[in-house]
Amino acid sequence: MEFDIAVLGGDGIGPEVTTQSVRVLQAAGRVFGHTFRLEYGDVGGISIDRNGTPLLPSVRDLASGSDSVLFGAVGGPKWDDPTASMRPEDGLLQLRAVLGVFANIRPVKVYALLADSNVLKPDVIDGVDMVVVRELTGGLYYAQPKERHETPQGWTAVDTLRYTESEIERILRVGFELAQGRRGKLASVDKANVLESSRLWRQVATRLAPEYPNVQMEHVLVDACAMQLIQRPASFDVIVSENTFGDILTDEASVLAASMGLLPSASLAGVPLEGRRTLGFYEPIHGTAPDIAGQGIANPIGSILSAALMLRYSLGLTEEAASIEAAVDQVVTEGYRTRDIASSGAREVSTAEMGDRIVAVLEQGA
Ligand code: IPM
Ligand code: MG
Repeated sequence: MEFDIAVLGGDGIGPEVTTQSVRVLQAAGRVFGHTFRLEYGDVGGISIDRNGTPLLPSVRDLASGSDSVLFGAVGGPKWDDPTASMRPEDGLLQLRAVLGVFANIRPVKVYALLADSNVLKPDVIDGVDMVVVRELTGGLYYAQPKERHETPQGWTAVDTLRYTESEIERILRVGFELAQGRRGKLASVDKANVLESSRLWRQVATRLAPEYPNVQMEHVLVDACAMQLIQRPASFDVIVSENTFGDILTDEASVLAASMGLLPSASLAGVPLEGRRTLGFYEPIHGTAPDIAGQGIANPIGSILSAALMLRYSLGLTEEAASIEAAVDQVVTEGYRTRDIASSGAREVSTAEMGDRIVAVLEQGA
């Protein structure tokens, strides 16, 4: 089959890791007989520098006209001036909104073999296997008003935490559906003791729960959730939350996996269904890591596993996705490590060498 993939590497380590996931994708194409037509575009800081805007309309159209988008990361100290009129992140936020990908799926899996590079004790992380479903196109990130204005008392800034019932319902349903196909546990995260939007969230979750009798849903306050994620992470199956809480909790959850560099994400406009074709947006959960950009030491696995999710959820290529995931498992099992997950006795490899190893395993498996 043939597919059009928009590749938007962005800033910092984004392009480096995306180069490796593209190589892995092409290897999977050779092995399974598919053609991935890649079209590249600039987004984020690089686009501000080149085009004076974080996202050109042509790149937006490239993304929305593709079968799927493979994204790196955006941002960096160069564009961090809080008074700047535009930011690299605006390009990412616009893309998410234009594509309507309200459901951000972040699986968190622990590689037992990486226990020695983990800051948490082995018995705490043992058995961790969860999916965080983060609402991605609403809440504080998008709702208006979102502005700064001068008052006689000084500057005032406002962000708005607004959610409609239908936005809450559609993301909660993604959580319930995923839980149904897994261990049947759903933690609905909110701050209902303080926030009105969370009280609506909780009400909707309670209304939907009887429709999913196989799912045991519990309400968890976000602060308690943050604590339990470290205390007893293996007890979570599916977590569903609004945008900002999900952003924070997934950075925290990535610590369970030893490195942020390992974690992929899929952003979709509906419930993820294996084998169905639907436009999606795929990015590792890590950022641009400016401190290590350009050194060839970043971990490409988060991006490579994002490409695997793309095959599964956007291109209908389930077997191909599984073979990439198996190749990653094998290479990690064989002891190859990028610096973020290096430990004594491991073979430290560069970003490109990690890509080489995974491509080689894929091709051998053919
Ligand atoms: C993420 C990132 C983004 C977000 C930033 C770069 C805008 O932190 O994908 O988690 O907050 O959504
Ligand atoms: Mg984040």
